[in-house]
Amino acid sequence: MTKAVRWGVVGTGRIAQTFASDLAPLAEGEVVAVGSRTAEAAEAFARRFGVARHYAGYEALCEDPGVDCVYVATPHPFHRDHALLALSRGKPVLVEKAFTMTADEARDVVAAARRSGLFAMEAMWTRFLPHVRTLRERVAAGVLGEVVLLVADHGKWFARDATSRLFAPELGGGALLDLGVYPVSFASMLLGPPSSVRSMVTTAFTGVDATTSILLGHPSGAQAVLTCTSSARSATRASVVGTETRLEVEGDFYAPSAFSIVARDGTLLERVEGPVVGRGLQFQALEVARCLEAGLTESPVMPLDETVSIMATMERALGGASSG
Ligand SMILES: NC(=O)c1ccc[n+]([C@@H]2O[C@H](COP(=O)([O-])OP(=O)(O)OC[C@H]3O[C@@H](n4cnc5c(N)ncnc54)[C@H](OP(=O)(O)O)[C@@H]3O)[C@@H](O)[C@H]2O)c1
Repeated sequence: MTKAVRWGVVGTGRIAQTFASDLAPLAEGEVVAVGSRTAEAAEAFARRFGVARHYAGYEALCEDPGVDCVYVATPHPFHRDHALLALSRGKPVLVEKAFTMTADEARDVVAAARRSGLFAMEAMWTRFLPHVRTLRERVAAGVLGEVVLLVADHGKWFARDATSRLFAPELGGGALLDLGVYPVSFASMLLGPPSSVRSMVTTAFTGVDATTSILLGHPSGAQAVLTCTSSARSATRASVVGTETRLEVEGDFYAPSAFSIVARDGTLLERVEGPVVGRGLQFQALEVARCLEAGLTESPVMPLDETVSIMATMERALGGASSG
């Protein structure tokens, strides 16, 4: 069995809590330390999730010699600095999505990890879910024929709250970096980097993007149609349409789900379900454990250059958008 990774968690918010509870039943990983901006929040997190050590401040956490890998679970504007902090203390990092705010920030983290020979990975947990691993295999095996079109959407409704992470510019607000990163990453996984990016953005009351639609063109001729919004709950489905068959992923496509492969005449050829215990964050932790044990400095499933490319696509979509 893979050696258990001793995790240190930076931040005590929503996703840090989900990570801790998804890891609890796992033999290959254990949260052994947590760092927070405040001693109270660190202590409360440690008590709730049975974490051995808690620190006021992220630096102390990153210096804990009993931590093998640091999980950065703060809002995206802080990912770069918190990842660099962990790397500077000799710790491998798993960094929440969106990996950073910009492609340049992502390059900074990647360069630091490579310079120090330490493992780093974007916490794009979707890639490691059973149904996504299987659908990736089907596409690679050519079951779809030539991929012509990919469609994916991620819409969630959030209450108008200027202090919310989804809307506050200083917390990295905006639908694309938070929600749209899933469709963009899904397209990148199956089609590679785009050769052209077109987009339209409707802004929210705080000026950040609320609804963003993206058209991607690829050297193969394949196109992707990707949408995200923080103003409405969409079906959050994805489909990949090939010359021979199409693959339909049920909503929520980015979370534990199921997919079907359908022939041109509408015949259902296969349906794959990927039942998962908990929310599903444990699969990315298993990948980190596997990579660390194998001495890898990045995951072949979520490579660092691809993370930078995904950030660059989102940057192009926001930078070159028409207004809706
Ligand atoms: N993988 C997923 O499914 C998923 C889901 C949700 C979010 N995320 C990602 O995870 C990251 C955190 O999201 P979240 O929903 O967990 O956010 P959250 O609930 O607001 O928690 C963020 C935590 O970061 C720390 N923090 C440090 N500086 C902060 C600042 N200036 N303002 C607010 N918090 C600050 C805080 O912990 P302390 O005060 O204890 O230091 C806070 O509890 C985001 O990048 C997001 O995109 C991923």
